[in-house]
Amino acid sequence: MTAKLLLMSDIHITEPGTQIIGLDPSARFRRCLDHAAQHHADAAHLFLMGDLTHHGGAAQYEALKQCLADQPFPVTLMLGNHDRRKAFAEVFPELAAGFRQGRHRFGDTDVLYLDTLDEQARDRHSGHLCIERLGWLKTELEAGKGPLIILSHHHMLRSGFDGMDAIHLRNGTEVADLIAASGRCQMVINGHIHRIIVSSYRGVTHAMIKSPCHQMPMVLGAGASSLSVAEPGGYGVLLLDPISPLLHHVDVDLPECPVAFDAES
Ligand SMILES: [Fe+2]
Repeated sequence: MTAKLLLMSDIHITEPGTQIIGLDPSARFRRCLDHAAQHHADAAHLFLMGDLTHHGGAAQYEALKQCLADQPFPVTLMLGNHDRRKAFAEVFPELAAGFRQGRHRFGDTDVLYLDTLDEQARDRHSGHLCIERLGWLKTELEAGKGPLIILSHHHMLRSGFDGMDAIHLRNGTEVADLIAASGRCQMVINGHIHRIIVSSYRGVTHAMIKSPCHQMPMVLGAGASSLSVAEPGGYGVLLLDPISPLLHHVDVDLPECPVAFDAES
């Protein structure tokens, strides 16, 4: 059985009326939700992969809650470096017990989602899996036998953007080694960079998806982690398959283009 999953990361909700580089994060997010409901109504689940809000404030989580009120999909909320547990718990108390990590099963495939938020990070934005979360991951990796997809806010290895690589998952190599050694994981998917990037590590695909809001400009190498560009927002559509899962990307807010027929194509 193939299940379709929707992946949206780095929503960065602000207080109503507050923009990021001239963009309204809530409006951009709503357009992605509407697009997904219109074009992928058969999706089994929606994962919001962290950086739900821009500053981790309770009013921002309330605004997120309002955005989600009418959407039709079961939702899993993950946390990123811009999130804060205390305010999240005030608005989503039913989700606040322990770390925001867990497992869903879709057909033959397990999907693990990680909680990589480290509120004590000296640089404020890098992630870390503490001993407790590493122990949970090890147990989960050993508990099943079938195909596995792992969702993480932070990237574990390199992106090629030096500023972002300075704030990746600090023990990412250890985590990626653990995942690869399990022999089960088909793909690790993360946000955080705000750009589509695909890499491979020890036989496991590591893919990164863009944000519904602002994106990372294509400036490789040295540079700040706070560079942003107002390119179209987007989200991922993951088609699970026991042998070969597929990750598609959807751009929203592209200029209207008619779909043309070309007999030679
Ligand atoms: Fe992030």
